[in-house]
Amino acid sequence: MLLERKIGVKYQKPKGTADILPQEAQLWDEVEAKSREVFRRYRYGEIRVPLFESYDLYARSSGDTSDIVTKEMYDFNDKGGRHMALRPEGTAGVVRAYVENKLYGPEFPKPYRVYYMGPMFRYERPQSGRQREFHQIGVEAFGSDSPLLDAETIQLGVDLLHSVGVHDLRLAINTLGDPETRQAYHQALVDYFTPHKAELSEDSQIRLAKNPLRILDSKDPQDKPLVADAPSILDYLTPAAQAHFSVVKESLDKLGIAYVVDPTMVRGLDYYNHTIFEIMTTSPAFGNKELTVLAGGRYDGLVEQVGGPALPGVGFGLGTERLMLLVQHNRPAEEAAPLNVYIASLSEPAGAEALVLAHAIREAGYTVDMDFLNRKAKSQFKTANRENAQLVITLGEDELAHSAASIKQMATGQQIQVPFAEVTTEFHKIYQQLVEEGK
Ligand code: HAM
Repeated sequence: MLLERKIGVKYQKPKGTADILPQEAQLWDEVEAKSREVFRRYRYGEIRVPLFESYDLYARSSGDTSDIVTKEMYDFNDKGGRHMALRPEGTAGVVRAYVENKLYGPEFPKPYRVYYMGPMFRYERPQSGRQREFHQIGVEAFGSDSPLLDAETIQLGVDLLHSVGVHDLRLAINTLGDPETRQAYHQALVDYFTPHKAELSEDSQIRLAKNPLRILDSKDPQDKPLVADAPSILDYLTPAAQAHFSVVKESLDKLGIAYVVDPTMVRGLDYYNHTIFEIMTTSPAFGNKELTVLAGGRYDGLVEQVGGPALPGVGFGLGTERLMLLVQHNRPAEEAAPLNVYIASLSEPAGAEALVLAHAIREAGYTVDMDFLNRKAKSQFKTANRENAQLVITLGEDELAHSAASIKQMATGQQIQVPFAEVTTEFHKIYQQLVEEGK
């Protein structure tokens, strides 16, 4: 059946998504370039993994009681009947790639450090700084259980934010300990919440049975008073977990990184243990609310859970949109880069010649634009002015007859005639003479 062709139907972007237009993309590029530079210094290499994977990978790693899995996954059956999902976060796919490509082998460095940048998808209620398609800049480091690596990862996050001019940060850390700690704390939470079960929200009553730690992360006001008095995980740490956390804190002290220990912090994903951290900031860009820009932690056990050897990992994810809001707010809008050359053509044959000259000048490394709308000379000059052109080349009848271009320097009004052949081969010289020496 042929679809009726409707003219003039207007489409809107899906709810919770955003178009990143060229004027913003420039700043995104800049922030990404600065991040890459910081990663280079820390010896992180880029990894690019698929935007979708099997649903099972995310369900298993994020945890089947997490909001991400129960409420926010964009999942679908593909045409072959496979249950797939758009990635809600970066860690699971990177761990899968680490295992599948055997990046733990002896030929690879340890820790094995990778970073990634790209879109993530979560079916959330959109609001400022919260989208359904959003981007993360993230890092993962595999193969070392040293608490020094936790501290280095936090330092990397702080450096990254500083490198793009974001200061006034608040770092909160906590520990979820080792499996033994978790077991003891799990029991303590069950013992504490069970007598109050009826006072808990419906969701938290389910969490109590499945994963009581999740209750601590509840956003339901009904749960808040009980959560406030819940036992603290810090009282259940095994000596080994305690020692790990102490080294993290001492290292941060040594590095001069200020932090607060928040024993109620649990994070929204189930794969964490030992150190977890969040870097928050309050900014008019967020309506003066405090938002988490960067968050992560250690996930020893996840590699094994995803079918690899028992190797530890630690990393973080940074919300790029949130970071961009901060960066944009901190910095006045920059002036657009000037256009090096505008070619005004006053006839059809001149247009064809303009195309050839434009190509040659672009090959020499300069930015060039010309008319494609058959505009009158006056309106072409107006465009050249609006684009802030440094040089305007005019091609009229006279110029074509002499195979020479009139080149005008806009700042001084100085004008010269240059044979086409010279423009094509010697543009660099012409530009230097007119623009750089004229300064
Ligand atoms: P996460 O805390 O779920 O952790 O996300 C990290 C950051 O991504 C958040 O702090 C926030 O800045 C940003 N973010 C999350 N959801 C949204 C959203 N809907 N809209 C805009 N920004 C958002 C992770 O994803 C872990 N994979 C981090 C990690 C890496 N842990 C270890 N390695």
